[in-house]
Amino acid sequence: MAHKDSAAVPVKDARIMVIGGASLVGSATVDELLARGAREVVIFDNLSFGGQPNIAHLDGNPKVKVVQGDILKLHQLLAATEGVDGIVHLAAYMTLNFDRDPWGGIDVNVRGVQNVLEACRANKVRKLIFSSSNAVYGYGPGVKGDLVEDTPFHAAGAPPAAILYGASKIMGEQLCRDSFRKHGQDYVVLRYSTVYGERQHYRAANALYIVETHDAIKRGERPKVIGDGSETKHFVYVGDLARANIMALEAPATDVAVNTSGPEPVTTLELVKLVAELSGRPDLQPEHVQPDPTKVRLTSGGAFEIVHKAAKDAIGWEPQVTMREGLRRLLAWRDAATN
Ligand SMILES: NC(=O)c1ccc[n+]([C@@H]2O[C@H](COP(=O)([O-])OP(=O)(O)OC[C@H]3O[C@@H](n4cnc5c(N)ncnc54)[C@H](O)[C@@H]3O)[C@@H](O)[C@H]2O)c1
Repeated sequence: MAHKDSAAVPVKDARIMVIGGASLVGSATVDELLARGAREVVIFDNLSFGGQPNIAHLDGNPKVKVVQGDILKLHQLLAATEGVDGIVHLAAYMTLNFDRDPWGGIDVNVRGVQNVLEACRANKVRKLIFSSSNAVYGYGPGVKGDLVEDTPFHAAGAPPAAILYGASKIMGEQLCRDSFRKHGQDYVVLRYSTVYGERQHYRAANALYIVETHDAIKRGERPKVIGDGSETKHFVYVGDLARANIMALEAPATDVAVNTSGPEPVTTLELVKLVAELSGRPDLQPEHVQPDPTKVRLTSGGAFEIVHKAAKDAIGWEPQVTMREGLRRLLAWRDAATN
């Protein structure tokens, strides 16, 4: 990891752009940037995933500018990044979208990142925070134990779309490194684990365990658990990531990639039982079912933990919100949204 005095971008009074700002993580990050006193927050998003409701609460806020633009159109990025101090880049296709549309995934997750880096170079944007994923460690039997930043990528035995997604994030990270090496572009890569929280969507394969369980319980049905439910998942609360994005901008760190995961992993059975309990229906016992072969499923070779110690060392970040508290907030948001 390199340190340069110039790599810190204090958020207060700065102009920060959030690319993919109408996303789950983006909308939380925009709120946090405003709370920390940013002069202006530019949301750059093509709204192709229907994210308009995620930013509707910002309508009329004089400190927020919404640019409906596409990262595949370099001229739009070049125009929008003029005078921007720092960027949080979140626009991406995840596994399920990659499965439906590999062309879109390759374009947005690879070429799109290079376009963002080119706009940073052209307009002298001081720092880029790139949202990567624990998918860079891969999936399937090879994934188990402690996942640390130099854990290798495992592809064998995992669904193609998950591996394509992970590989696209590896390419995105390497494009950042390449730009640092060639142009001195400061950046921090944050490898998020599975995100959950307010404004949760149905696009992330692991978070489906939460939202589908909650939906089943609301219908009065027993929630489903695949197999014996001993599979590990490691989540992180969206508000903790909003904080991580800001800490990464403000830290002197550059040219580094770190894991940002929640306090501890859970098993799918623990997760489903916790959602049932927090939904007021602990009596609805999970039904154990076989996996649906038509659906993409993210598996590992056994119990694992995504270690976030390096994030503390590089940017001073640690997760704060427990799974129980984060789930309580997510379920309260979902209940309010449907009432
Ligand atoms: N959600 C998770 O569980 C998770 C886990 C690990 C990493 N990540 C990464 O975090 C980031 C944010 O995830 P999220 O779940 O908040 O995202 P999301 O799916 O909610 O939103 C992605 C946003 O990108 C926008 N977008 C897509 N293509 C675009 C284009 N060509 N130009 C401009 N905007 C475009 C969409 O309109 C959408 O608002 C992504 O990079 C994702 O890969 C997410």
